[in-house]
Amino acid sequence: MSSLLIEQSGPVVRVTLNRPEVRNAFNEQVIAELSAWAENVTQHGARVAVLAGAGKAFCAGADLTWMSRMTSYSHDENLRDASAMAAMFNALDSLPLPLIGRVHGAALGGGTGLAAVCDIVVAAENATFGFTEAKLGILPAVISPFAVQKIGISAARELFLTATRFSAARAREIGLVHAVVPEADLDRTIDAYVRDLVTSAPGSITGAKHLIAAVANRIPADVADLTAETIARHRVSSEGQDGMRAFLEKRKAAWVE
Ligand code: COA
Repeated sequence: MSSLLIEQSGPVVRVTLNRPEVRNAFNEQVIAELSAWAENVTQHGARVAVLAGAGKAFCAGADLTWMSRMTSYSHDENLRDASAMAAMFNALDSLPLPLIGRVHGAALGGGTGLAAVCDIVVAAENATFGFTEAKLGILPAVISPFAVQKIGISAARELFLTATRFSAARAREIGLVHAVVPEADLDRTIDAYVRDLVTSAPGSITGAKHLIAAVANRIPADVADLTAETIARHRVSSEGQDGMRAFLEKRKAAWVE
């Protein structure tokens, strides 16, 4: 049985972690299925993806039953397994389309990591986050590059070390979450984001995601060639030409849903 529910409605594909009995903790099966989903995400014309969790929580992080079994693995097997998890986070982080996180209930450990690889996170007021790994004698290793990029070094030093659980309001304050709403308003808020996203050009969105990753923490002069090349390419692209002409001709661009 699949550990994910995948539903597409028009331009929106929704992937729901579906192991509610363990609060959607992820094991090797979830990792394999989410990685495969990420690889084929645009296959049926999707333009926006939503990541959600079934049941009471978004995601309780790595499955501790699975992780604790690792003592019976060789070091190489253990490493291979951890690399598959890192590849999944990388794949989600660099999806070619916008990924919206729909967070309710707990998002702990790798669950907070999943929020960190979303482009936009909408959280319920009662959602709880936390890099809880140190409380379990481990650490948020695989998710650290994504988390530190999102929340910065100062918050990471506090939150990785204390491993304390924190509120949606705090998550918003540190840049992990973009909107905090009553749980009943999660889908409505996501729909508003979707309406905005489908009026942006798909190529611009993919390009912007690459660009953000490429210029982050770089000295502007060091990326000037890259940024000039990027706009030079996009303004003569069919999307760029259509988008600019559509504005001048007071009509909608071809990609507007
Ligand atoms: N891995 C494996 N199983 C987990 C799990 C995890 N990360 N998180 C929860 N579960 C299991 C529980 O063991 C329990 O199993 P049981 O029914 O056989 O007893 C079941 O999921 C429900 O958990 P429970 O704690 O009873 O539910 P809750 O709704 O009261 O609380 C959480 C949910 C997520 C707040 C709580 O389970 C929790 O704190 N989990 C640990 C999260 C964590 O620190 N993750 C980091 C992993 S690196």
